Amino acid sequence: MRIGVVGTGYVGLVTGTCFADSGNAVTCLDINADKVARLRRGEIPIYEPGLEELVERNTRSGRLRFTTDTAEAIRAAEVVFLAVGTPPAADGSADLTALWKVIDTIAPYLDTAAVVVTKSTVPVGTCAGIERRLQERLGRDCRVASNPEFLKEGAAIEDFQKPDRVVVGVRSADVGDILRTLYAPFLRTENPFLVMSPESSEMTKYVANALLATKISFINEVANLCERMEADIDDVRRGIGHDSRIGFAFLFPGAGYGGSCFPKDVQALAAMARDKGVVPRILTAVHDTNVAQKQVLGGKIVAHFGGDLKGRRVAIWGLAFKPRTDDVRDAPAIDLIEQLLAAGSSVSVYDPEAMDNVRAMYGDRLTYASGSLEALDAADCLAIVTEWGDFRRPDFDTMAARMKAKVIFDGRNLYAPQEMRARGFAYHSIGKAAV
Ligand SMILES: NC(=O)c1ccc[n+]([C@@H]2O[C@H](COP(=O)([O-])OP(=O)(O)OC[C@H]3O[C@@H](n4cnc5c(N)ncnc54)[C@H](O)[C@@H]3O)[C@@H](O)[C@H]2O)c1
Repeated sequence: MRIGVVGTGYVGLVTGTCFADSGNAVTCLDINADKVARLRRGEIPIYEPGLEELVERNTRSGRLRFTTDTAEAIRAAEVVFLAVGTPPAADGSADLTALWKVIDTIAPYLDTAAVVVTKSTVPVGTCAGIERRLQERLGRDCRVASNPEFLKEGAAIEDFQKPDRVVVGVRSADVGDILRTLYAPFLRTENPFLVMSPESSEMTKYVANALLATKISFINEVANLCERMEADIDDVRRGIGHDSRIGFAFLFPGAGYGGSCFPKDVQALAAMARDKGVVPRILTAVHDTNVAQKQVLGGKIVAHFGGDLKGRRVAIWGLAFKPRTDDVRDAPAIDLIEQLLAAGSSVSVYDPEAMDNVRAMYGDRLTYASGSLEALDAADCLAIVTEWGDFRRPDFDTMAARMKAKVIFDGRNLYAPQEMRARGFAYHSIGKAAV
C-alpha cells in the first residue's frame, strides 16, 4: 500500500519504518525541515534500539522516504496516518492545534478513497471531529479511522512488529479490512485485531495508559507508607504479585512516572471526564500522587543534608524517563534537577543516551560527565533516577573511592540494602528503611 505518515517523531518514525519494512511504500512528512534533512542523510534524531538499521535498510530499498512537501506525502497515499504531538493544554486537556493544522493542510491533497487514521492519542470524539472538518473543507465524506499506538519507547520496534493487540476504530467494515491487511504481517502469532467504533478505540488508549499510571501511583503511595511502617515494599510486592488476580507488572515503586504519555494522558482523560460532568476522583489522585512522588527522592536528599545543599554536589545517574530511550519529556530526573538547583546544590549528571537533550535544557548550569564513574567525582551523594542496565552491577569500590561521601539515594531500588550496608554505604531507597 502507499502510505503517508504525518509527524515523524517517536511514533511516526517507528510506524512509517515498520510499515515500509513490511513491504509498503511510505512517505513520512514533517514540518521540521532539520529533522527531515537529517533523516534523509540517514541520521536518526531519536535513540530507539534497532531503529537506525531498519530506517537505513528501507530508505536504501526506496520504500521509505522523508519530506516536508505535503503534496508529495499525501497525494498518492491510500492510507494517511496522523502521528503529530497532542501535548497538554493549560487545563490538562489535549491540545489538538497541530492535529487540526495537519487536517487543513492535507485536505486538498487527499485522494477520494484515502483513509485518514489517527495514531496520535486523541480525545474521544476527535475522529468524528475530523470527519466533520474534512466534510466542510472538501464538500464530501472522507473515511476516517482511529488506530491508537501502544508501543513503549525503548522497545518500540519490537512492540510495533509484535503487538499484544491492534485496536482500530472504524465506521465501516471495508476500512477495517484495509487496516487488517496492513497489520496482517505483524499479527502472525494470532494476537487479536480488535475492531470497534472510533469512540471506543480513542477511549481504549486513554484507559490503558491511565490504568498503568494508576498501578504506579498506587505502589508508590504504598511504598511511602511501608517506609513509615517498617515494612519492605519489595517483600510486600512479592507477597501480592503471586496472586494471579494482581500480578507483578507495573507494580515497581520508584521516582514517579514520566515521559510524554502517562502524565498528559491521565490529565487529558480527567479533563474529558470533567467536561462530561463526571468527577475524575481516581485520575486526579493518580496525577497528584505522581507529582508528589517526583519530589520524594529530592526530599530525602535535602533532609539528609539538613535542608541546606549549598556547597554540595549531587551526582545523578539516569536522566531519560526510562531506560533505552533518550526521551526526557516530563522525566523525574528533571524534577530532581530543579529541586536540587533550587536548594543550592551543584549537580553532575550522566545518562547513556539522554545527555544532549538535557544539555539543550540546562546548558552550563549542570556538569555533564563522560561516564557514570566520572559523574561521581567529588560528589557528596549519588541519586539514581533511571534503571539503565549499566547501573545495576557497578564497581562499588571504585565508586566509593571517587565520591566524597558514600551516600546513595536510589529511586529505582537497584541494590540490596544489606549488601550496601556491608560495603559501608549509607543507602536510601524507596519503600524500605534506609541503612
Ligand atoms: N512517544 C510514545 O511512546 C507514544 C506512544 C503511543 C502514543 N503516542 C502518541 O503519539 C503522538 C505523537 O507522539 P510522539 O512522541 O511521536 O511525538 P513527537 O513530538 O516525538 O513527534 C511529533 C512530530 O510531529 C511533527 N509535527 C508537528 N506538527 C506538524 C505538522 N503540522 N505537520 C507535520 N509534522 C508535524 C513534529 O515536528 C514532530 O516531529 C502523541 O499523540 C502521543 O501521545 C506516543
